[in-house]
Amino acid sequence: MKRLAFCGALVPLLWLIAAAFGIAGLSLGPNPSRELLHFTGKTALNLLWIGLLASPLRILTGDPAWIRPRRIVGLFAFGYALLHFVIYAALELGLDFSDLAREIVKRPFIVVGTLALLLLVPLAATSTDRMMRRLGRRWQSLHRLVYPATVLVVWHFWWQVKKDVTEPLLYATALALLLGFRWWRAQARRDPHASNTQRGT
Ligand code: HEM
Repeated sequence: MKRLAFCGALVPLLWLIAAAFGIAGLSLGPNPSRELLHFTGKTALNLLWIGLLASPLRILTGDPAWIRPRRIVGLFAFGYALLHFVIYAALELGLDFSDLAREIVKRPFIVVGTLALLLLVPLAATSTDRMMRRLGRRWQSLHRLVYPATVLVVWHFWWQVKKDVTEPLLYATALALLLGFRWWRAQARRDPHASNTQRGT
């Protein structure tokens, strides 16, 4: 399962490299920097959502195998988000950060994206087995930062859309379901009697 997740998460990167170098007839289209931003942003977003799906799938199927690829998926999500940022800084800003203040006023959704990326940094930095052992229970608490990060990502996505909000709305709905499921589980665990009563009815 882990190997499959690794290979699957690598596919978008291979596509990107092939399109950038015109391999196998692929191309980035008429606006390469926009396409690079779009593709890396969407890939990071999709992988974050896939990562959030692991725990509900484990609970619903009772199969712990769903959890195993979660860290690799999360790391790839961070990698694509970082690439998205680097592409923005290099191709849109030309690595000139002196205009950043004006850029933020023009496109404030960038601040929200940056906050999301910053929240993912400690998660990526503590994704090794060693850090997991060292942090113990605190590891799990720290990794809950992924929830505010995903909320910020939806906000970032929604804010930069010009007209049709269908796509960010779909991602927001999926996120609400994924986070709602977790909230419901936490409530049921805290009050098992209530959940038994509900199940019995
Ligand atoms: C976890 C971090 C982030 C994720 C998952 C993310 C995701 C996305 C997504 C899904 C889009 C829309 C793509 C499209 O449909 O065209 C987008 C657009 C964009 N993002 Fe991010 N983003 C993140 C962080 C950042 C950061 C840190 C920056 C820059 C500092 C940034 C700058 C942009 C820009 C400039 C656009 C394009 C807006 C346009 O088309 O005018 N993002 N991002």
